[in-house]
Amino acid sequence: MSPSQNKDILVGIVGVGLVGGELVKQILSINKAKNPFKIVLLSSSRKALYTSPENAITDSEGWKAKFDASAEKAELSKFGGYLAGLVAQGKGRKAVIVDNTSSEDVARLYPEWIAQGLSVATPNKKAFSGEKKTWDAILAASDSEGGGRWLNESTVGAGLPVINTLKEMLGSGDKVKKIEGVFSGTMSYIFNNFSAASSDAPKPVFSEVVKVAREKGYTEPHPADDLNGFDVARKLTILARTVSALSHSQTKLPELESFLDVQTQSLIPAPLEGLASGDEFVGKLPGFDEEFNKLREEAAKEGQVLRFVGVVDVEAGVVKAGLEKYPVTHPFATSLGGSDNIIMFHTERYSPRPLIVQGAGAGAAVTAMGVLGDLLKLV
Ligand SMILES: NC(=O)c1ccc[n+]([C@@H]2O[C@H](COP(=O)([O-])OP(=O)(O)OC[C@H]3O[C@@H](n4cnc5c(N)ncnc54)[C@H](OP(=O)(O)O)[C@@H]3O)[C@@H](O)[C@H]2O)c1
Ligand SMILES: *[C@@H]1O[C@H](CO)[C@@H](O)[C@H](O)[C@H]1NC(C)=O
Ligand SMILES: *[C@@H]1O[C@H](CO)[C@@H](O)[C@H](O)[C@H]1NC(C)=O
Ligand SMILES: *[C@@H]1O[C@H](CO)[C@@H](O)[C@H](O)[C@H]1NC(C)=O
Repeated sequence: MSPSQNKDILVGIVGVGLVGGELVKQILSINKAKNPFKIVLLSSSRKALYTSPENAITDSEGWKAKFDASAEKAELSKFGGYLAGLVAQGKGRKAVIVDNTSSEDVARLYPEWIAQGLSVATPNKKAFSGEKKTWDAILAASDSEGGGRWLNESTVGAGLPVINTLKEMLGSGDKVKKIEGVFSGTMSYIFNNFSAASSDAPKPVFSEVVKVAREKGYTEPHPADDLNGFDVARKLTILARTVSALSHSQTKLPELESFLDVQTQSLIPAPLEGLASGDEFVGKLPGFDEEFNKLREEAAKEGQVLRFVGVVDVEAGVVKAGLEKYPVTHPFATSLGGSDNIIMFHTERYSPRPLIVQGAGAGAAVTAMGVLGDLLKLV
């Protein structure tokens, strides 16, 4: 890293909640003499704080009060112009926008920002797993002369080295045969508890596990938003697109128009489909415990557990998410705790034994680390 002052990297952070706040803290914790990052823009959905590079945010305690006191309204359409303007004023400067929202509106602006020469780093899965035309527009913008970079490491597995590992494998010519894993922290928590590997573990009913997970904040306020499997489908879309884009030869993988093209098994009981209230959903879920008990018993008879997994089967040309059975000795059964993610890469080189990445796949500290790791690639 060269600490030359005119190599400033200006940072704009859209979304300053948990991860955004943690990211500010981590950026400011870098040794001042070596810190190329200058935070010059912060925004929530309502307000924004703009500063000049000379007055960039440096106070890891005081920034929040300064932000709260700002009278500027958040206007997404202004951010790109503001940062591009600052870049134009300083030789050698770069700028990056961090999107820590889960907003589609923000994601839709990526192509414009990247075309302006700004880089975009984000844990937000929406842009990369939504409509293929958005993805193509981002790709075209970053390929164009003077286009910025798009940094997507933390979209899958938060801070876990998943996308980067995949890029290095593919870039160096390894052939990916299959990626399979537990990609949702919520589903991980639910099934680690509901279908434990140890036969002495308690056997709670499914609805109770979901209820407790919701009370502990592991699920979305409406648990159907987790049980529909869409979060996993979005992550698989990102992996599958990356495999297709970076493989040295044509793959059999389907061209996904969006994450809706992933074969996804929803765990929402059909009669509860479309219930607007999370409370009502949780209240009615016990009516379906018997079905889940049966699945668990069938698996147990075969010495297996249930896990909600995502699979990108490159050899078979299949991308799918759903409930599968694994032997009680399998890493998906034995090595997961809490809301851990685990991802297995079966490749030509990592064969017959796969490469395995495992650890916390959510949480502000590790997600912010994943984003900051991306920012360091710009140095
Ligand atoms: N939590 C984790 O451990 C984790 C792990 C991996 C990935 N992620 C990803 O990280 C992202 C953030 O997650 P989240 O669930 O916390 O998101 P969220 O609650 O929807 O977004 C939080 C922040 O984004 C701001 N925001 C929303 N829409 C905006 C807009 N149109 N313009 C400007 N700011 C806007 C909100 O502002 P207000 O405060 O004004 O509403 C808020 O500060 C998501 O993409 C998520 O998938 C999270
Ligand atoms: C950022 O991400 C974290 C983790 O998902 C979330 O809790 C927070 O609200 C997000 N938004 C901001 C603005 O940090
Ligand atoms: C499942 O969760 C309950 C409630 O938090 C806990 O008492 C129990 O030990 C957990 N079981 C397993 C196998 O993790
Ligand atoms: C992630 O970003 C890289 C560029 O750094 C790109 O090649 C890859 O296709 C991207 N993947 C997705 C799906 O966002």
